[in-house]
Amino acid sequence: ETGMFTYDPGFTATASCKSAITYIDGDQGVLLYRGYPIEQLAEHSNFLEVAYLLMHGELPTPTEFKAFEDEITHHTMVHESANSVIKGFMHDGHPMAMLISMLGALSGIYHNDLDLDDPEQRRLAAIRLIAKVPTIAAASYRHSIGFPKSYPRNDLDYASRFLTMLREVPSEEFELNPVAAKALDLLLILHADHEQNASTSTVRLVGSTGANPYASVASGVAALWGPAHGGANEAVLKMLKEIGKPENVASAVEKAKNKDSGFRLMGFGHRVYKNYDPRAALVRKMTHDVLAQLNVNDPLLEVAMRLEEAALKDEYFVQRKLYPNVDFYSGLIYKALGIPVEMFTVMFAIGRTPGWVAHWLEQQLDPESKIGRPRQVYTGAVSRDYVPVDKR
Ligand code: SDX
Repeated sequence: ETGMFTYDPGFTATASCKSAITYIDGDQGVLLYRGYPIEQLAEHSNFLEVAYLLMHGELPTPTEFKAFEDEITHHTMVHESANSVIKGFMHDGHPMAMLISMLGALSGIYHNDLDLDDPEQRRLAAIRLIAKVPTIAAASYRHSIGFPKSYPRNDLDYASRFLTMLREVPSEEFELNPVAAKALDLLLILHADHEQNASTSTVRLVGSTGANPYASVASGVAALWGPAHGGANEAVLKMLKEIGKPENVASAVEKAKNKDSGFRLMGFGHRVYKNYDPRAALVRKMTHDVLAQLNVNDPLLEVAMRLEEAALKDEYFVQRKLYPNVDFYSGLIYKALGIPVEMFTVMFAIGRTPGWVAHWLEQQLDPESKIGRPRQVYTGAVSRDYVPVDKR
């Protein structure tokens, strides 16, 4: 212990940056995007309006929103040359791998628009990322089922456009259920930003070196992929399927309390929320509404509800303040919308892209922003002399 630095494995003790974008109070279960409570945005706003708010700091006037929406719509296509990247993947490659690679490829396509000292080029990169991530995501999934990419229908809203691109039938034949589009739009709002989580901190750390926004966001997607972070929504579904029936819930809870089992209740716990994740409360309610409106009777919902009920009553979880987080129920809604489980974390990435680009833009504008350089508490050997190989 050099005494110079405090060791904190989760970086929660030291503020890595200043930001005006999102505020979280983990003890009170409060989440504000630019000062607006997530509950009010969930009830009154839409995903693109929230994306505008995160980027610009204020809610848009009708004229500002129309211009923003038109610009996003204008940039939904992905250059054909980038599509060969997806074709280079085995069909069953994970769509998150394709998303990471495609975002890197965008750096190569827009290399003439990467003068980061030009505010207009920075803003355009942010627009392109928000507009193109869903198109790339849909193309990745369609590649995995051996389908050609689909083209974005720009007569649709953001969520409807994505669901239509994902479909396995020609988009002009696909009848979109408005309940599905509204549910997806709300889930995207709830995932749009979350302060300095692992992936956003990664975007800021990479961005702090002067790397371009496509590479910075690609690094955020890579960080999000882990099951401890955005990969949790996919892991929750796998866990619920493994538990299978409500009668198996009690043994699953017992197993999760035994650290040697290596089994955790995925979708439970949080680095910051030591109270109920406000997003989880909204997703939980939404799950019941959406499955009822879509007439979906998913037996895993009963397993999830019994698991939550059992854990919230169990001393181990209560003592450790382990509550369901945003990932616990979201997968059940994605499943009801017909989105395959391997796309769940990609859905999280689509939602989080406005947050990532808002943080990247904020950092570019911060005159005090310096290159990120975390330090360590050194626990290795003290200084010693080299030993020739014949003396070892
Ligand atoms: C997201 O940071 C963000 O904001 C992230 C996010 C966002 O919007 O960007 O909110 C999205 O990533 C949500 C989290 C999704 N991950 C999961 O659901 C995976 C399952 N949860 C965990 O692995 C865990 O809870 C973490 C990763 C979320 C937090 O892990 P920590 O930091 O180890 O949790 P902790 O320090 O609060 O743990 C305290 C105790 C420990 O036991 P003790 O050593 O005190 O005996 O609780 C235990 C942990 O072992 N524990 C769990 C558990 N989570 C923590 N035990 C069983 N099941 C769990 N899920």
